[in-house]
Amino acid sequence: MKEWYDAIKEAQSVEKLEEIRISVFGKKGVLAAEFAKMKSAVNEEKAQLAKELNTHKAALTDELTQRKVVLQTLELEANMKAEAIDVSLYRAKCQSGGLHPVMETMDRIIEYFVAMNFAVKTGNMLEDDFNNFEALNLPKYHPARDMQDTFYFKDEMLLRTHTSPVQIRTMMANKPPIRMIAPGAVFRRDYDLTHTPMFHQVEGLLVDEEGKVSFANLKFILEDFLKYMFGDVEVRFRPSFFPFTEPSAEVDISCVFCKGDGCRVCSKTGWLEVLGCGIVDPNVFDAVGYKNVSGYAFGLGVERFAMLIHHIGDLRSLFEGDIKLLEQFQ
Ligand code: PHE
Repeated sequence: MKEWYDAIKEAQSVEKLEEIRISVFGKKGVLAAEFAKMKSAVNEEKAQLAKELNTHKAALTDELTQRKVVLQTLELEANMKAEAIDVSLYRAKCQSGGLHPVMETMDRIIEYFVAMNFAVKTGNMLEDDFNNFEALNLPKYHPARDMQDTFYFKDEMLLRTHTSPVQIRTMMANKPPIRMIAPGAVFRRDYDLTHTPMFHQVEGLLVDEEGKVSFANLKFILEDFLKYMFGDVEVRFRPSFFPFTEPSAEVDISCVFCKGDGCRVCSKTGWLEVLGCGIVDPNVFDAVGYKNVSGYAFGLGVERFAMLIHHIGDLRSLFEGDIKLLEQFQ
């Protein structure tokens, strides 16, 4: 019998073990043959033989079960090793995207005005002369058009120079009151440290009954808005000119770099110009057929805001798609 114990110990696979089990315990197996021999044995021997055989039977069963467990474990380990995925082998360079600083700034501006109950309106980048200029009190050959030169197509179409045409279109399509902002890309013939041929604006318009909208209302909301965007800054209004507003003002904040002491960025003035605004010129209301109304309007460049918020020196760098620059704002 000893050779079967050895065979079990040496078995290297579950299949081999099964073969051994059949050879030992099967109908034609070794044990069956040994038990058969008992028939011819005499009585005393029979009992002794039966005892021996039963001991072997039990012991071999134990050996088989134990070896099976060992072999199964080994096989499982081998399989796991073979199928293992080595996650440390290749570290995929996974870069997560993020909002462009201009879009992030635009979102913040929109958030403020939406909270103030302004509707968000958009229009077409390809505009006609009427909506971009004429209706905004900028007749053909008016010198103020020079400040907003752009790319012209035939049929009096052009790349819009501001988002003010969205205000004209909104007024033409709706009755007053109006409370809206117009965010979007605009185009001008400019290219230097603080200007690019394409940039983004958010312009606002509020129209209500005659006598209801004052410069004080405009001043209040813009001061509140600028403090929301830039924190604790001083705000000042300077008289200015826009064809579509009268009176008009340019709005400055105290320099965010030198806190008003005067530095290179604010040209030693302590102030930074951030937006234009005014009371809507009656000629604009005439152009859209509004009667007995009053309103205010304002407009700002989103890139300029982003530059001041993130301390970016050259506005053009915002459009170069340089990951090294953009990553810093994520
Ligand atoms: N449309 C003006 C511009 O693009 C900005 C502006 C809007 C100024 C509304 C005053 C009132 O320069």
